[in-house]
Amino acid sequence: MLALSTPQRGAAKLLLPVILLSLSSSALVAAHEHEEEGIPEGEFISPDPLDNILWIHIFAMILSFGIIFPLGMVLGIVRSRWHVPVQVLGTLIAVMGWFLGHAHKGRQFAPNIHATFAPILMTMLAGQVGFGVYLKLHLERGMHGKIRPYVVKLHGVAGKIMPLVAWTQMLFGGITSLGFCHADHGIQCMAHFIMGSSFIVYGMIMVIILQVGQVWLKGTGRSQEFWDSLVITIWGCINTFTEHRWNEPWALNDIQHTSMGIVWLCAGLLGIWLSRDKNGNPKRNIVPGLVVFLTGYGMSAHAQELPLSTMVHQVFGYTLMAAGLARIIEIAIILRDKPELGEESSFQHLPPYLLFASGLIFMCANEEQLALVSSGGVDHVSYLLVLYSLAFLMYLFTMVLIGVFTSSTQPVKLPTAVATGNGHAGARVHDAEEFELEGLISDEEDDANKRQ
Ligand code: HEM
Ligand code: HEM
Repeated sequence: MLALSTPQRGAAKLLLPVILLSLSSSALVAAHEHEEEGIPEGEFISPDPLDNILWIHIFAMILSFGIIFPLGMVLGIVRSRWHVPVQVLGTLIAVMGWFLGHAHKGRQFAPNIHATFAPILMTMLAGQVGFGVYLKLHLERGMHGKIRPYVVKLHGVAGKIMPLVAWTQMLFGGITSLGFCHADHGIQCMAHFIMGSSFIVYGMIMVIILQVGQVWLKGTGRSQEFWDSLVITIWGCINTFTEHRWNEPWALNDIQHTSMGIVWLCAGLLGIWLSRDKNGNPKRNIVPGLVVFLTGYGMSAHAQELPLSTMVHQVFGYTLMAAGLARIIEIAIILRDKPELGEESSFQHLPPYLLFASGLIFMCANEEQLALVSSGGVDHVSYLLVLYSLAFLMYLFTMVLIGVFTSSTQPVKLPTAVATGNGHAGARVHDAEEFELEGLISDEEDDANKRQ
């Protein structure tokens, strides 16, 4: 008979409700037919409002996939004992949200990408829970000793990809609930979401490197602008050759997008060249900042059909220009070309925040969305202020996640008495967290630590 130790029994108890819920959910999936009656010809949603069940689905999914799982991910990376409880809570809310997504009445939807993509994310979650439970069982003898490190790696990599996949699924949820991005609008939507998300990701990378990435950067032996310029060059190359179908006549849009690609490609090459000094040492430069500025300039002059849309595109362009300018000032004046200041300057939050804001504005500037906002009688100032506020919140959440990470990994300043008493002043103080870690750390690592 299979005998389980106490932690193993605990982990098995964790898995049981998930298995039961997923089994019964297949019955629900079968029961929920997509009733497409009620959807007018040529439309993709029925005119009914969203019902409460769908609203709860939306809030539950944003809470679990947007807040709890990313927080749990960081707790996993720092091996906090809070990782498992937080991810279990997220899983319970997500499973409830999954049922509600299937059980809604109210507005009806034509077949959509959100419903198609959902099983991919939920399978990923089920996999993470499965791997997680296996890791929590701490099976480390015999075969398990060989398998476990691979499972940790896989669980870690998938866990870091999950927020990206969840972000995509949440965006799909947004466009599905409003019936956007079908038919001709698809490409334009994709352009806005991919480009907007890229600016946000660039902002995130910038603030992560600012706060915790300097050691990694040093390890690469390159300056930050080398990596930025490399990505800019690759992206420019892709845009130069893909924005126009070469056997068709040139449209205005093609010319604009291709010229943007050419600027990125040319500037990126210069940026790579300037990222080393005469002796081959890493050197900072302002080329990526200039590229962001020029991209903003290009976008600010993009005329649109709706007056609201023209204004929003203009402010998007200005915000991006401000981000580029702020980055140039940061590198040339605040940092004076150094990789970092001893203590970060408040100004250094400006470039990444402005990238967050411009990314979010661009994501919310697709034609159908602006037509809806315009028909609701909302002016561009109010709309933009709401988007700036969302950018503040997203920046805050990013800072919270980085804060959780640094509070468990940065050296802790010891009180003088302790520091002088045990002779370990200046050492990374893991003792303080040993209490935190004991829930997650494996026996193997524990033994290794003790030997050290
Ligand atoms: C709910 C069930 C889950 C359980 C029981 C669980 C359990 C664990 C355990 C025991 C570890 C430490 C592994 C070790 O011994 O080194 C770990 C690490 C980790 N977990 Fe989970 N986990 C769960 C869900 C998740 C989810 C949903 C995510 C993703 C959002 C995630 C992301 C991570 C990450 C990023 C690490 C660090 C891995 C590394 O540093 O390479 N976990 N988890
Ligand atoms: C990452 C988190 C999310 C997941 C995993 C998820 C998952 C699901 C699932 C499984 C369904 C049922 C699909 C079906 O009927 O076959 C569903 C329906 C739906 N969800 Fe989500 N959802 C998430 C977030 C959101 C968000 C943020 C929104 C809106 C802002 C949203 C809006 C909707 C809508 C409108 C439906 C009805 C679609 C239909 O009946 O075809 N979801 N969701």
